[in-house]
Amino acid sequence: MTHIRSRFQKEADKLVTKYTESISFDWRLYRQDIAGSIAHARMLGKQGIIAAEEAEVIVKGLTAIREEIEQGKLQFQPELEDIHMNIEARLMALVGEVGGKLHTARSRNDQVALDMRLYAKNAISDTLSGLRGLQQTLIQQAEANISVVMPGYTHLQLAQPVLLAHHLLAYFEMLQRDFERFQDCLKRTDVMPLGSGALAGVTYNIDREFVARELGFSRVSCNSMDAVSDRDFVIEFAAAAGITMMHLSRLAEEIVLWSSAEFGFIELDDAYATGSSIMPQKKNPDVAELARGKTGRVYGHLVAILTTMKALPLTYDRDMQEDKEGFFDTVDTLLDTLEVCAGTIRTLEFKPESMRQPVDRGYILATDIADYLVKKGAAFRTAHSIVGKLVSYASEKKMSLKQLSMEEYQRFSPLFGEDVFSITVASSLAARDVPGGTAPRRVAEALAKAKRIMEAG
Ligand code: ARG
Repeated sequence: MTHIRSRFQKEADKLVTKYTESISFDWRLYRQDIAGSIAHARMLGKQGIIAAEEAEVIVKGLTAIREEIEQGKLQFQPELEDIHMNIEARLMALVGEVGGKLHTARSRNDQVALDMRLYAKNAISDTLSGLRGLQQTLIQQAEANISVVMPGYTHLQLAQPVLLAHHLLAYFEMLQRDFERFQDCLKRTDVMPLGSGALAGVTYNIDREFVARELGFSRVSCNSMDAVSDRDFVIEFAAAAGITMMHLSRLAEEIVLWSSAEFGFIELDDAYATGSSIMPQKKNPDVAELARGKTGRVYGHLVAILTTMKALPLTYDRDMQEDKEGFFDTVDTLLDTLEVCAGTIRTLEFKPESMRQPVDRGYILATDIADYLVKKGAAFRTAHSIVGKLVSYASEKKMSLKQLSMEEYQRFSPLFGEDVFSITVASSLAARDVPGGTAPRRVAEALAKAKRIMEAG
């Protein structure tokens, strides 16, 4: 009979044990649980709530248990429910009765809240590094391909020429907002809940600030009932992860499109592509497809935890044990996806000639010609309609706008002069010389700014 069942006459039904245990997944909190317990034991010793020597024995025992777990020597037991009870039982086996003093002035309710916050703080810091890693590869590719021109799209239709670097730096911006979102999420995660007890606080003269300092928290929670029942830091992480995965899925989608024969804009590195079991000619972008596909489960975890927490009465409810699996999977999926995306981008080869073809082919300079008429005095709407007719005429004749004669141009508007032929892809790019525009000068500035952001950390 486990020591928390002393008021019961019977063992738990096997099915109940299986249904309620969490050790099969919350073992992942062992490092956080032990760190939290060590800080708590030291505080108890320092405050004279237990003897200093007793605290010493407990800390030594916990350190030994961490070692055992790391070496795979500790067999976790489902009958002991969770990581907290498994470690505590092992501590008592190792150091005897005195191990039973560790849980003084503490409840599993504030303990699990602490462990989850410690875990989330780590996960945020890993995510921030992962985001920086991907941002770095985007910067490198933007710089290495600084003069490469590609078609920009709206509605996935050829729209206007842009610099490839401009397109890549668009993702840098998205990831920068993601970075800031996680930084912001860290502020609210970085709160130390221990000392809340089961829900109402504890009856001992504890030092919460000491525990917070030992564990690297910036502050302690303000309300014990809130502290044991709040999981919005998990929800915020899941939401921020969902947004990041949404961004990564767009990048992934473009990698899928661009690596197709129809686009041919990139060649994936062999190490980041897979073959087909039946079609020998194929090089599949499975990594990008999975990055796109895994977005679904991350969204799913967000909805799951929101639903679990919805309408729960204060304070702790066992429902909250359901916060863990989805959270762990969110962290794993997000970190892996950031890493494979960085690897994919770092190793892929851009094909400037293939990107150039659609730029030279279609009527991608039509907006520039409309702008030309505006500068000659036409209203933009009139200019738009004139160029629309011009494009329709040229496309019927299967000619490019460059191939039309001056006489043909003038049939559409007397404002056209010889200088219309000096509209080129280069002039089109250079003309978009506004803050945030694709003019090479502006993109160079954006690149320099992105690098400064990276250097600042
Ligand atoms: N395994 C539990 C969880 O993850 C730990 C807290 C248990 N508290 C309790 N009062 N049963 O939520």
